[in-house]
Amino acid sequence: SSQIKAHQEYGGVVPFLAARLHTKKLPPLVIKAIQDFREQTSYHSFSAIAVTNEPGLEPALYTGVNQANVLSTALDVPIYGINHLHGHIWSYLAPTEGNTISLDEHRYPFLALVVSGGHTILVLVHAFGNYEVLGQTIDDAAGEAFDKVASMLNLGYPGGPVISQRAQDGNSEAINFPRPLSKQPNLNVSFSGLKTSVLYYLKEKGGVYHLSEQEINDIAASFQQAVIDTLMIKVNRVLNKYDVQQLVLGGGVAANPELRKAMEQSAKKYRLPMQLPASHVTGDNALMIGIVAALAKQNADKGDTYVRVNPSAGV
Ligand code: KG4
Ligand code: ZN
Repeated sequence: SSQIKAHQEYGGVVPFLAARLHTKKLPPLVIKAIQDFREQTSYHSFSAIAVTNEPGLEPALYTGVNQANVLSTALDVPIYGINHLHGHIWSYLAPTEGNTISLDEHRYPFLALVVSGGHTILVLVHAFGNYEVLGQTIDDAAGEAFDKVASMLNLGYPGGPVISQRAQDGNSEAINFPRPLSKQPNLNVSFSGLKTSVLYYLKEKGGVYHLSEQEINDIAASFQQAVIDTLMIKVNRVLNKYDVQQLVLGGGVAANPELRKAMEQSAKKYRLPMQLPASHVTGDNALMIGIVAALAKQNADKGDTYVRVNPSAGV
């Protein structure tokens, strides 16, 4: 079930609209999931319920957590409140067709770059549950920048997929947009200035309506390259500085083919294994939340009898 159409006319996610639609759509979806599970697997009962309880938009988190609490009580199984960002970090473990999940093989410490509509973080993962944030955005998230630039170019919402599509036919060297904070030695990134540069560029050209399709493709490609370079400068700095054993990518922006390529190139250069999430688990999904709960269970976490929401939690 998708809410994208409902939010499209507002150009972004409207929290209370999201909550209202979750309240309506979740119960039939959960019933269907349970039916499918019983029909398609040899299992008949659940050992636990997992739910995203942090961080995020409070009204939307509440609807999921409330329903999961009811399910856990009704089925008399423990509940695991899972951090959304942990889901993105571990989404690379999601099975692709024909593969099962292997929860056992990790190389610690590993660097996870999580890039979504709400977050941009560089996390050093020392062990399951042991996360060190090395750097993050000081303003807009990477996905948010894609969404805002797409809106300036009248390309609709969400912006990431359409920008990366248009960028395929554009010249990434056409416009030299800035790579913010790249000269600073810290590991933080910033995208707000880059977004403003695109805005000034459009003003200079007399507005988006004066641009040809090719010019729009060139702006998309040049902007996308600036975002990727900004991220990769800091990723490479981490790889130079820390004893990293593997490279991991996660979050909605991980669907971007050019970012995936850039990460693969870095991994190759530093001779590290690269873990990319399968395309069905880059954007927000329930599978990655279940995977983190499974890892927690494997780590002797027995879960809870109910969970609370924590909208402003970190990693
Ligand atoms: O992780 P996610 O599904 O939701 C949040 O947790 O925010 O990420 C959504 C973000 C959106 O900003 C969307 O524009 C971006 O991921 N996105 C992309 C691509 N596909 C989705 N950004 C760049 N390139 C893409 N192909
Ligand atoms: Zn997300």
